[in-house]
Amino acid sequence: MSSIVLFGPPGAGKGTQAARITESTGLPQVSTGDMLRAAVKAGTPVGLEAKGFMERGELVPDAVILGLIEERLTHDDAQNGVMFDGFPRTVPQAEALAQITTITHVLAIEVPDERIVERICGRLSCGNCGTVYHDAFNPVPVAGCPCGAFEPKRRADDNESTVNNRLSTYHEQTAPLATWYRDLGIFHAVNGDRDIDAVAEDLLAVLA
Ligand code: AP5
Repeated sequence: MSSIVLFGPPGAGKGTQAARITESTGLPQVSTGDMLRAAVKAGTPVGLEAKGFMERGELVPDAVILGLIEERLTHDDAQNGVMFDGFPRTVPQAEALAQITTITHVLAIEVPDERIVERICGRLSCGNCGTVYHDAFNPVPVAGCPCGAFEPKRRADDNESTVNNRLSTYHEQTAPLATWYRDLGIFHAVNGDRDIDAVAEDLLAVLA
């Protein structure tokens, strides 16, 4: 099994681009953030443990995350590789991942910090189908969400104070992974401070 990693700060556009990469490559998206939010919503033991960390913009402990990943990779749709979104986020997570799968590409979406706050504070998604929008940069179509049952939803951690913590956490604990993957020769950085289609084009070109 060989897989790819979507890497970048909070709000860089990983989830937005994941939808396009899945459409083009067929690789299923494995988002630890989405898995944790589902666990919080369902009130599972993992969700109860993760909730406080997420609300503070801190990382959930590695052991919890690795348990989720190991279970997810047993699913049928993961047997030919997956696209990790928001994982790994620490060196121990990357080391554990290297033991269970081969990573062929780490696609890094680079966006300056000053853009991140406006992206995250304007994020809106459809609670029915999961499509991610933005109040200004990627608005819901005038005709409504293509799923036909738009349910506006905003994330509990999408506020200015949590965003700043998430950014500090990213710079301290996750950004160092770039060097780790660069040394392996599989790190590809793309300028994410452009419109969504231009970023998608560059990411897909790396995979072509
Ligand atoms: P997670 O859900 O992974 O959040 P994140 O990494 O902070 O990333 P986001 O989902 O906020 O952003 P994104 O890059 O997907 O951007 P999006 O496409 O939505 O993690 C949440 C929390 O869970 C963490 O804080 C942590 O507590 C925990 N967690 C998760 N994984 C963990 C792990 N591995 N280890 C430990 N803890 C973990 O885009 C953002 C907005 O910008 C949208 O509105 C979008 O429409 C807009 N946009 C996108 N692209 C563009 C563009 N090119 N131009 C203009 N606007 C754009």
